[in-house]
Amino acid sequence: MMKKIITFVVIAFWVFSLYAQDNFRFIFMADVHYHEKNGAPQALDTAIDTINKLNPDFILVGGDILYDALRRSQGEAEEQCRLFLDKATKLNAPLYYAIGNHDHFAVYNKKIDVDHPLYGKKLYEKYFGPRYYSFDYKGWHFISLDDMMITEDRKYIGRLDSIQLKWLQKDIEQLSDTTPVVIMTHVPLITTLSQWYGGGTNANNNKTAIENSEEILQLFKNKNLRLILQGHIHYYEVLHLLNKTTVISAPSFSGKWWMGKMHGMEEGFVQIDIIDNNNFDYHYIDYKWNVQE
Ligand SMILES: [Fe+2]
Repeated sequence: MMKKIITFVVIAFWVFSLYAQDNFRFIFMADVHYHEKNGAPQALDTAIDTINKLNPDFILVGGDILYDALRRSQGEAEEQCRLFLDKATKLNAPLYYAIGNHDHFAVYNKKIDVDHPLYGKKLYEKYFGPRYYSFDYKGWHFISLDDMMITEDRKYIGRLDSIQLKWLQKDIEQLSDTTPVVIMTHVPLITTLSQWYGGGTNANNNKTAIENSEEILQLFKNKNLRLILQGHIHYYEVLHLLNKTTVISAPSFSGKWWMGKMHGMEEGFVQIDIIDNNNFDYHYIDYKWNVQE
């Protein structure tokens, strides 16, 4: 009898540990807009403590890491990169980035020429790495995309370029139809922001959402696209589409660029817990740096 009980306990423990191995946690944060004013350094310290206590496997940072590089000098923009990366070393988990519009260098600063070695996306590539890539983790496939294009008249538009579209097609070709996929972008593929504030027929423009999201979504027609994570609009929304895909627009990590609440919400991020090989829970976390507000 005793032998049977021990065998049962051993098997139960083995099954539990197999199940537990597949579970993992990650953080999705966006719109950090880091600089050294308005209490941002203290806020980031508080957030880092909160994140470390949550013990995630990794952290996804969905763009607008910098306060702003669009209008800055080279010295100011590089300083913002260094200051953020210096703080980020205190995080215990690895970071995966996506580029935001404010991470593009000197697009609005006409004193800097377009052939400057850090112009546009090159500053980000120097400090944060490739603009688009994918990786696998415990059976899930993660894809980070750069969904902004810089026009000749030095503006940005939300659009995935044709080179990335081809890369994306190839990247997901090798996936089985059941592999759960997560996409991270800065500018939303889909959002209700314009309708929430402007009524049901109010359309997004190509600075609020990307022009060719349909082309991206078509590629996933027969794939298991479980989660789309996006930033940019500082507007927390969660959309559950067709019992298949969840779209999360991150709450702004910096609130209103470190000047209080944004859309009535405190500075925060999202904790995502993968609970089996196809499902997850999510929670908005207010890291409460400025409780006296
Ligand atoms: Fe932003």
